[in-house]
Amino acid sequence: MRISIINGPNLNLLGIRETDIYGNMPFEKYLEELQSKYPQIEFSYLQSNIEGELINEIQRVGFNYDGIIINPAGYTHTSVALGDAIAAIKTPVIEVHISNVHAREDFRKLSHVSGKSVGSIFGLGLKGYELAVHWFLNQSSL
Ligand code: DQA
Repeated sequence: MRISIINGPNLNLLGIRETDIYGNMPFEKYLEELQSKYPQIEFSYLQSNIEGELINEIQRVGFNYDGIIINPAGYTHTSVALGDAIAAIKTPVIEVHISNVHAREDFRKLSHVSGKSVGSIFGLGLKGYELAVHWFLNQSSL
C-alpha cells in the first residue's frame, strides 16, 4: 500500500513553531516513527511552502497511490485551487489538522479541502496522521 503525506506551509517548522499549539516534535521524526510502526506501507512525503508545488504533488500521486493524507495548513482556508486539485484526482484524501481549527479564529473554520475529502481529522495533534493511516488500512481490508 502506498500513502502520500503532504504538508503545507510552515509545517517544516513543527517542533519550533508555536509549540503550545503544534507540539514539540519535528515532522520528520514523527514520520520515522510512523514508518517503523507500519513497515508494510510505502510512505511518500512532501512538505512545501509553495501552493503550486502542493498541487503538483497532489496530481503526481493522485492517480496511482492508495491514499493521500494532507495538511494544507494556511492554504486550507484560502486555496480554491487546492480544493480543485483534490476534486480532480482519483485517490481518496483525508484532511488532517494538528490543532482544532474550529476552536480558533473564525477564518480557520473555512476549508476549501474538507468538502472534496473523504473525511477530516482535527485537534488530535500529530496522532491525526496515524488515525488517517488506520482508515486507509481498514478500507483496504474490507
Ligand atoms: C493547521 C491549522 C491551520 O489553520 C494553520 O494555518 C496551520 C496548521 C494545523 O495543522 O492545525 O498552519 O493546518
